[in-house]
Amino acid sequence: MSGPVSTELSDYAEKLIRGRHATRAFRPEAVPEHTLRAIFSLAGAAPSNANAQPWRIEVVGGARLERLAHAVQTAHAEQRTSADFPYSEGMYAPVHQERRAAFGADLYGALGIGPDDHAARAAYDAQSLHFYGAPHAAFLFVTGDGGARLAADVGAYMQTLLLAMTAYGVDSCPQGLLSFYGDTIRTELGVTEGKLLVGVSFGYADPTAPVNQVTTKRAALEATTAFHI
Ligand SMILES: Cc1cc2nc3c(=O)[nH]c(=O)nc-3n(C[C@H](O)[C@H](O)[C@H](O)COP(=O)(O)O)c2cc1C
Repeated sequence: MSGPVSTELSDYAEKLIRGRHATRAFRPEAVPEHTLRAIFSLAGAAPSNANAQPWRIEVVGGARLERLAHAVQTAHAEQRTSADFPYSEGMYAPVHQERRAAFGADLYGALGIGPDDHAARAAYDAQSLHFYGAPHAAFLFVTGDGGARLAADVGAYMQTLLLAMTAYGVDSCPQGLLSFYGDTIRTELGVTEGKLLVGVSFGYADPTAPVNQVTTKRAALEATTAFHI
């Protein structure tokens, strides 16, 4: 599409993109299969380098998801982590750390967990491995060599998926924490290919949960974007 801006479309995009939020408490109702198929079909329209589409998605629900939650929570309790993508606190710049701290204060504050209550924060994180009570989770694997360029494509897929869910009235939470249990998730799902980038828990939000009222801010446009025009 090109040419004059369609106000209708830009209004819709504003609503869709700004209307997506991370949901951390779900109702148990499953998403109908026809809606699941529509969402994942739409997400497949994501762009990728040379249209290689280097993603592999595993969508899980029902008893399988329950078993998976149990396996992941057991791995967590036994400290059996296996992250396919390296992680270190040192990867964040000071400005990132400031934003993370502000977000953490808002999130844990909404849960009634104080800034220095590390035990309560850790317990909440462990509990989150039950997919925040969502009836479904999707696991996004990077195929090929799993390098940074291909992972970026899968990142584009992730955001397209989150927006497709929003458009179909489905709430979601991307959970990087799940990616620390790649081996467990691969074994449980019989996956033999790809590196686990992220898991996305999804379903319908519990509107009564205070944690779902948390709002996040963004950096000012000038802090992230320069216009050489
Ligand atoms: C790649 C990625 C990993 C994330 N990992 C987690 C996670 O492990 N647990 C969690 O509760 N939220 C996680 N989030 C959600 C972010 O905290 C959230 O997107 C951010 O704070 C902005 O809030 P919003 O999504 O409501 O706009 C993740 C988001 C992304 C994009």
